[in-house]
Amino acid sequence: MDYNKFFGDALGRLHDERRYRVFADLERIAGRFPHAIWHSPKGERNVVMWCSNDYLGMGQHPKVVGAMVETATRTGTGAGGTRNIAGNNHSLIQLEQELADLHGKEAALVFTSGYVSNQTGISTLAKLIPNCLILSDALNHNSMIEGIRQSGTEYIVFRHNDVAHLEELLRANPGRPTLIICESLYSMDGDVAPLAKICDLAERYGAMTYV
Ligand SMILES: Cc1ncc(COP(=O)(O)O)c(C=O)c1O
Repeated sequence: MDYNKFFGDALGRLHDERRYRVFADLERIAGRFPHAIWHSPKGERNVVMWCSNDYLGMGQHPKVVGAMVETATRTGTGAGGTRNIAGNNHSLIQLEQELADLHGKEAALVFTSGYVSNQTGISTLAKLIPNCLILSDALNHNSMIEGIRQSGTEYIVFRHNDVAHLEELLRANPGRPTLIICESLYSMDGDVAPLAKICDLAERYGAMTYV
C-alpha cells in the first residue's frame, strides 16, 4: 500500500468536502477579556473572542493567575505523567474536593476534557451494569454517542426532549437496568432538557440518569 498517497487522498477528500478544519491561532490578552490577538495567515489582528468556555474571563482574574504562579513556583509545572504513573496531583485533589462541594456531591473526578469525561464515564458505567439498556436523547453530543458505542451496550435513541417517547421505551423494557443519557442545556441548539420530568420518569421506572 502507498500510505503517503492513501493519507494524501484522505486529506484531499476533506478539503474537497470543505471539512478540513483549520483552528485559529489565538493569544488571549490578560486583563482585556474578551480581546485576543489572532495570529492570522495575513498577520496579527486584534479580535474579540466569545467562543470560549471561560465565559466570565475568570482565567485572567489576578487572583487566579496569582494562585497559578504561586503553585507553579512551589510545585513546578506539569503532572509528570498520568495518575497511573505519577500518582494524584495534590492540586487536582483539592480542585476535585472544591468541585464536589460546589455541586453538593461526595466526590468529583477531573478529566482532561469534557469529551473524554463523557466517553469514559458513559462507557465505564454502562459496561459495569449487567444487561444494561441505554436510552439516549437524539441530540446528545458526539462524545456521549462515542461513550455509548464504546460500551458495546444495547441502546435506543429517543426523540429529542420527548418525555412521552422516553416513557414509552421505559414501559416497553420493564425491570431492565436502564441508563437514561441526556444533556441539560444542549450545546448545539441552546435548548433545555425537561430534566425534572426525565428524573421523575427515571425514579418511577428504576432507571439511572447520566446528564
Ligand atoms: C455536552 C457536551 N459534552 C462534551 C463537550 C466536549 O467538551 P470539550 O470541548 O471539553 O471536550 C461539549 C462541548 O461543547 C458539550 O457541549
